[in-house]
Amino acid sequence: MRTSPAPLYFALPGNEPFAERLALGLRAELGAARIRRFPDAETYVRLETPPTGREVVLVATMHPPDSCLIPILLLAETARELGAVRVGLVAPYLAYLRQDRRFRAGEGVTSRYVARLLSTYVDWVATVDPHLHRLASLAEIYTVPVAAVHAAPALGRWVAAHVRNPIIVGPDAESAQWARAVAETAGAPVAVLEKVRRGDDAVAVALPRAIRWRDRTPVLVDDIISTARTMIETVRQLRETSATAPICLAVHAVFARGAYEALLEGGAARILTCNTIPHETNAIDIVPDLVGALAGVREAAPSV
Ligand code: R5P
Repeated sequence: MRTSPAPLYFALPGNEPFAERLALGLRAELGAARIRRFPDAETYVRLETPPTGREVVLVATMHPPDSCLIPILLLAETARELGAVRVGLVAPYLAYLRQDRRFRAGEGVTSRYVARLLSTYVDWVATVDPHLHRLASLAEIYTVPVAAVHAAPALGRWVAAHVRNPIIVGPDAESAQWARAVAETAGAPVAVLEKVRRGDDAVAVALPRAIRWRDRTPVLVDDIISTARTMIETVRQLRETSATAPICLAVHAVFARGAYEALLEGGAARILTCNTIPHETNAIDIVPDLVGALAGVREAAPSV
């Protein structure tokens, strides 16, 4: 009986350690690719390991978003032209999910456009906790099979192993799904706060008075830390109420410029994230959870 060759994984620059661990977990081969800039800033790509007759998997976290998008498209097309039977994308952080509506006349609904573009170039997508707001699932905008892995169990296991007497705090309604799931895995109580965002850099958070914070370690949980204003404001309020400095946990370490330092200065005891975007706060490995999800999405995608 002929068995098909193992999938061939290619890492975009900066994704090498993640891709290595993924390929190892899946007993897949890690291919060699060259991706660089021409002097005029165009992108050069070359697949040094031939993809002919193989399933190719590109590993590319989409942060910063625009500079990874073109290399993903160019590598996917190169692989296909050189005879790959299928091309998948593992984007541990999947960008362009924020603008899912036309809020003001003339705006582009960019999450839909990027989803359409990626769906044209790759046959399946796997990611971790997409930052969905008004969409119920990625299937509303992606036309190829998509697997979205949940990081909450991994975050919850970390809390259970490392924090004594925690209380899980979701700083806003959007974070409630992560906070509740983390609390369940960690066997801890949970509080979801109310947040009002007045602009990119201005948020107000209301702390419920009824909760007894003093004997607990607050663990703030959110999917993304971007400007960190959400966490900073929550930490500020908790420091007035709780005897123990809060721990901040997030899935994606987006950290806009200066955000990480500002959160540390704001009084967070520790800041920890999953390894979906390389950052010094990465402490929770999401690779095993992704490995488990990849078989299903690959099977759902057609091959040539
Ligand atoms: C809200 O919609 C999200 O769940 C996060 O709270 C938010 O994206 C974090 O943003 P920032 O770090 O800019 O406050």
